[in-house]
Amino acid sequence: MAYETIIVEVEDHVALVKLNRPDALNALNAQLLTELADALTAAQANEKVRCIVLTGSEKAFAAGADIKMMSEKSFVDVFMEDLFTPETDQILRVRKPIIAAVSGYALGGGCELAMMCDFIIASDTAKFGQPEINLGVMAGIGGTQRLTRAIGKAKAMDMNLTGRFMGAEEAERAGLISRIVPVKKLMEEALGAAAKIAEKSMITTAAIKESVNRSFEVTLAEGLLFERRVFHSLFATEDQKEGMSAFVDKRTPQFRDR
Ligand code: HXC
Repeated sequence: MAYETIIVEVEDHVALVKLNRPDALNALNAQLLTELADALTAAQANEKVRCIVLTGSEKAFAAGADIKMMSEKSFVDVFMEDLFTPETDQILRVRKPIIAAVSGYALGGGCELAMMCDFIIASDTAKFGQPEINLGVMAGIGGTQRLTRAIGKAKAMDMNLTGRFMGAEEAERAGLISRIVPVKKLMEEALGAAAKIAEKSMITTAAIKESVNRSFEVTLAEGLLFERRVFHSLFATEDQKEGMSAFVDKRTPQFRDR
């Protein structure tokens, strides 16, 4: 598929996917979401790619779902087309790690898209928010659910009910993001983290992603059982033998995804 609203570059085992609708602060319209889902699915299928970085521009990661696209839609329209569901389901099926590199606005669907990634590295200029309430609607792809699990009820209610924006410092304190870096260093930091992940066995990165995500779905006892079973299963891999013998031999492991 030739893309018009995103740019994809693959370099050194990392796929960099850049949202690219500068005139609309990367607002998520149907075309962008379709292209993004397609690009991430292609990155999953591309054997060269071991980690993915999703980013926007310096001014905006994404300023939300495209309000102009949604404004005339009726309940029946959005219900029958199941607005945003097929694309977000497709994005969530990606098994390779996805890092969101966020600078500027990550609002509404933009904040929700960042939260669909595995972790968020933000610049000191990042602003997160769920301002849908100002439009007479509410979050629709995780802003009341993933955000609440990430930062707790008090802040999630505050953000969703007042529509206020949260800066990078507060977002880090609250647990929404994993790192803050100066804006000029954002891509270096995110691509560096991706390069580190790309060195690991892909069996383990996929297993860890699955296991951490499981913690949102099940009780602690079930999650611990799931984790233990996956941990035990990794002893069936050659990469476990390689990783542990490399440690003993004081050398760098050469993982082969087997
Ligand atoms: C469509 C958008 C947009 C959006 C910005 N633009 N956000 N277009 N949908 N979500 C467009 C503007 O219309 C404008 O186009 C151009 O981008 C630049 O935006 P400005 O407003 O002129 O920029 P600025 O004054 O710097 O303000 C930045 C901003 C503001 C604070 C981010 O744009 C803003 O409040 N945007 C909307 C944020 C929002 O409400 N997001 C939630 C959307 S609902 P023109 O053509 O006029 O120059 C949502 C629902 C999710 O996300 C539910 C499920 C996915």
